[in-house]
Amino acid sequence: MSYPYQIKSLEQYHADYKRSVEDPEAFWGNVAENFTWRRKWDKVLDWNFTEPKIEWFKGGKLNITENCIDRHLPEKANTPAFIWEPNNPEERVRVVTYARLHKRVCQAAQMLVNNGVKKGDRVCIYMGMVPELAYAVLACARIGAIHSVIFGGFSAQSIADRLYDAQAEFIITCDGAYRGGKDIPLKSVIDDALVGNRTIKRVIVYTRTRTPVSMIKGRDVWWEDEMEFALDQLEKNGEVNFPAVEMDAEDPLFILYTSGSTGKPKGVVHSCGGYMLWTNYTFVNVFQYKPGNIHFCTADIGWITGHSYIVYGPTSAGASSVMFEGIPTWPDAGRFWDIVERHKVNCIYTAPTAIRSLMSYGTDPLKGKDLSSLQVLGTVGEPINEEAWHWYDENVGKGKCPVVDTWWQTETGACLISNMAGVTPAKPSWATLPMPGVQPVLVDERGEEITERDEHGVMKGNLCIKAPWPGILRTTWGDHERCRTNYFATYPGLYFTGDGALKDADGNYRITGRVDDVLNISGHRIGTAEVENAINMHSGVVESAVVGYPHDIKGQGIYAYVIYNGHHGDENLRRLDISLTVSKIIGPIAKPDKIQFVSGLPKTRSGKIMRRILRKIAEGEMENLGDTTTLLDPEVVNEIKHGKL
Ligand code: WT7
Repeated sequence: MSYPYQIKSLEQYHADYKRSVEDPEAFWGNVAENFTWRRKWDKVLDWNFTEPKIEWFKGGKLNITENCIDRHLPEKANTPAFIWEPNNPEERVRVVTYARLHKRVCQAAQMLVNNGVKKGDRVCIYMGMVPELAYAVLACARIGAIHSVIFGGFSAQSIADRLYDAQAEFIITCDGAYRGGKDIPLKSVIDDALVGNRTIKRVIVYTRTRTPVSMIKGRDVWWEDEMEFALDQLEKNGEVNFPAVEMDAEDPLFILYTSGSTGKPKGVVHSCGGYMLWTNYTFVNVFQYKPGNIHFCTADIGWITGHSYIVYGPTSAGASSVMFEGIPTWPDAGRFWDIVERHKVNCIYTAPTAIRSLMSYGTDPLKGKDLSSLQVLGTVGEPINEEAWHWYDENVGKGKCPVVDTWWQTETGACLISNMAGVTPAKPSWATLPMPGVQPVLVDERGEEITERDEHGVMKGNLCIKAPWPGILRTTWGDHERCRTNYFATYPGLYFTGDGALKDADGNYRITGRVDDVLNISGHRIGTAEVENAINMHSGVVESAVVGYPHDIKGQGIYAYVIYNGHHGDENLRRLDISLTVSKIIGPIAKPDKIQFVSGLPKTRSGKIMRRILRKIAEGEMENLGDTTTLLDPEVVNEIKHGKL
């Protein structure tokens, strides 16, 4: 398979960029010709950001799995689609060729149909990082069911909220998952999420850890039994094939829940056609994928990075994608490097938080590891500090591998701003240039385009995008108005990212972090309002305010100021109670790092919490708190300063 749209030089990047913004329809129409369509689209693009309405390749008919699997079979039946590295390095590696992937996805598609799943139905997937997770995702896509993968670190309550919001009727899960030294009892969490649930018709359980699980008659079935039965059915027809269901390019492919500045996560919806194009195009260009290369994205499929750069991007390109069940530091901090050596990985794509965590072990874990196969290093999820960037470049890439700093979001489907490995220049801690088709703009508070530059020629503002690219979200599930107000209303006519950014004189962008009330904890996105809601659920809590503060490894930590009137236990016990409450309501990933008990919160006379002050104190900035005279009770600020943790 060749990629005629792969950019090979800086000149070509500039030329393609220019064509893509001058005539997006011609440009993306051309790229789309390289995919398998059952019927050609009526129009490449129709859009306005007012409603918003965004339609790419409308009328075009396809099934993304024919692009990710079937079309590779003639040439790549025996090429690995997935190379699965188990949590425990002693356990056997599993190599899933494209032929095997086809068989398993067809079986799983038949299994879903046997269990009553139809086109358009929502299927929640709550599994560990096993190949069956990829089969489940692709099987949904094959029959046109909408998958919604939920990361294993979310609690029963979070799952219940998402099941309700998506009106899901089906769940695919595992008995348990291995992560480092832990066994996580996934099915038992699902059971808790289903107490009182009336919409779920079927739970399919894959056996991974063989942890004891409850199985409810008429509702819960075993994956293994169902897959075997499905295979028998398919084999009766001769060749094992489940014909892919025809979808419109604009039909929803999946929902992925993500946090915003309100207390309730929203279901970001991606479409079949545009998302396919965008993940494929960016995969091939950013990482400069060459047929035969081994790509290793260390993310979990529970997040967008895993959707786009473990599953859809790589398979749509016929690539070989490493899927890792474990964590970077177990059984030791050399785990990534063992995987690179064992599978001769050409590209590793990970998060700054993982790099910083590995940095803290020094370079010993790298000694004796053969990393000579590496050609490209990537990072994603949060701003990368220069120290981590250089450590990665020098110790992992040995100064020979381009580092791509890829900026994007759940809502953008795949990369929007990034250098392209070896093709466009890198600049440490800068995401650099926009992909073709992406038109960033920096605006001020009023939405006016920034024109002013500092003495180094750098502009600073809120990052917006002027026009749609194929992978932009189409709506938020069940509530289109929410999509409009969240992303398209702050600055009318623009998509607002929620990030602040700098732009240098060469047109490079540096993302400085969120400007809204969204935290980025180890690359996980969590809303402060969500954490506050969870803390406030604790019976002893009167009120709370949550802010982020700089954390050496996680990037940001969660700092909670809590007014407490309960009487149980000492301060530390209360902290543990509050943390456990957050764990139950959201999940362990949202537990506060610091909880400070206060007698009041700094509020304006109209009752608004002045987070700016709380943020500064949490950051250790005790002076220059700005004007505090408008506060209802200025004294409370001194008390909070004294009690800082
Ligand atoms: C937020 C999106 C993109 C997939 C993983 C996270 C931050 C992401 C970078 C980067 C600086 C980054 C932004 C963005 N972010 N990549 N390369 N440099 N910041 O997806 O959970 O939707 O979070 O992550 O703040 O808005 P997400």
